[in-house]
Amino acid sequence: MANELTAPKTIHGMTPKQIVSELDKYIIGQDKAKRSVAVALRNRYRRNLLSDEMREEITPKNILMMGPTGVGKTEIARRLAKLMDAPFIKVEATKFTEVGYVGRDVESIIRDLMEASMRVTKQKHMDEKYAVAKDLAEEKIIEAIIPGSKKRPAPGNSNPFSFIMGGGQATYNRTTEKIDDKAAHEDSQTELARSQVREQLKNGLLEEQYVEIDVAEQPKDNNLDVSQGGSISLGSIFGDAMPKRYKRKNMKVKDARKILIEQEAQNLIDMDQVTSEALENCEQNGIVFIDEIDKIASGSGYRGGVDVSREGVQRDILPIVEGSVVNTKYGPVKTDHILFIGAGAFHVSKPTDLIPELQGRFPIRVELEPLTRKDFVRILTEPDNALLKQHKALLETEGVSLSFTDEAVEEIASMAELMNEQTENIGARRLHTIMERLLEEYSYQLPDVEDKNIVIDAEYVRNKFSEAIRADDIDRFIL
Ligand SMILES: Nc1ncnc2c1ncn2[C@@H]1O[C@H](COP(=O)(O)OP(=O)(O)OP(=O)(O)O)[C@@H](O)[C@H]1O
Ligand SMILES: [Mg+2]
Repeated sequence: MANELTAPKTIHGMTPKQIVSELDKYIIGQDKAKRSVAVALRNRYRRNLLSDEMREEITPKNILMMGPTGVGKTEIARRLAKLMDAPFIKVEATKFTEVGYVGRDVESIIRDLMEASMRVTKQKHMDEKYAVAKDLAEEKIIEAIIPGSKKRPAPGNSNPFSFIMGGGQATYNRTTEKIDDKAAHEDSQTELARSQVREQLKNGLLEEQYVEIDVAEQPKDNNLDVSQGGSISLGSIFGDAMPKRYKRKNMKVKDARKILIEQEAQNLIDMDQVTSEALENCEQNGIVFIDEIDKIASGSGYRGGVDVSREGVQRDILPIVEGSVVNTKYGPVKTDHILFIGAGAFHVSKPTDLIPELQGRFPIRVELEPLTRKDFVRILTEPDNALLKQHKALLETEGVSLSFTDEAVEEIASMAELMNEQTENIGARRLHTIMERLLEEYSYQLPDVEDKNIVIDAEYVRNKFSEAIRADDIDRFIL
């Protein structure tokens, strides 16, 4: 496959084990869920290697993730999408039962997915052009600093008629020689100045200087919402026929460069090609994450504003999951090979409360485990984006070093477990509220503290929370 060669380091082509170990960097535990997702993705890769007929036959095995709130369902999906550069969207099934969404067109899920596909596919193309775009941008900046004399036509073609008149060329050239000389002199002066500027730019000496550049104006989003056929953008109908409008703006070199690079890269890509690749990308690699799918199961006690029948929503979603064609403004999208991941707590309803056709479309079931105190300790400290690391980094910007004793971390974890038991179990989300509360005093006082070395120990944690817990005031921590 062509994109095999150019593919950046993404999930495409990773073995299931590699995928799991990537996920391990961010998500603690939940091994079963990670494994089945990894296998589902690898199967898409395997499928891509098959003959066309075989490939058509193999549809993705959609996954249903079940488990209490705040244990990593959405996080797994989010991480995968980041790794993958795949078109990915997340929708809440309950959206389609809410007031104002009565009969909301579930096909909008696929249209949104297609938008996501356009974004990632376009970005991939832009990435390939940045090196060239950077050089072009640099030249534009140089031109803005040292504007040249008007570009003269190439010698020999200086008289537009000379080409037609043939023999006239020699005479003409003789008469304009002097002028040419003068202009050539100016040109070489300009060139000299420019090469000096180029050197200075290279050495980063001009970053703060102001230049005037032409910035493309964002086209107004002239979206007509055609209720059946989806939204159609005027821009996309007329495409390049609509001339781009530019506006002169004065800004620092370093800011101008960023804008110009984007602009140049944008000019270098072929949007027709991007669109056709994006359609393919959406159909073959798209992933739709349907959150709160348990809330549209019939057994659930959940009541949306207007009682649009939950079963009705399931029936609306069914054709998309089963495979149908959805019209988007970029063209029709076949949904047969899009991977769907459903997720829900399923504590009131069960998967068997879904209509049988839909159940059958989610053959892989995985349960996520409730998180324990031990998991909390690991979530606080281990992931690349661990909460404690985040807070440390934030305070570092104030010139303060923040650290936690091991006992303090244990204490925070116990506190989270306790609060989850006493009030609502919100899983790892509890850690966020606790951390905010724990550090709120410092966050407010900084940078005006004398001791730039803050150590949080177990006692500090207990002091902060014992009162709250004793006072039965625990409601304050509920999100
Ligand atoms: N196993 C885990 N490892 C690391 N962080 C986790 C884990 N579980 C949850 N978190 C953190 O807790 C927060 C909430 O998790 P997430 O959004 O995945 O919950 P969820 O399972 O989708 O819950 P809900 O059913 O409410 O949607 C996130 O910030 C996430 O980083
Ligand atoms: Mg979630």
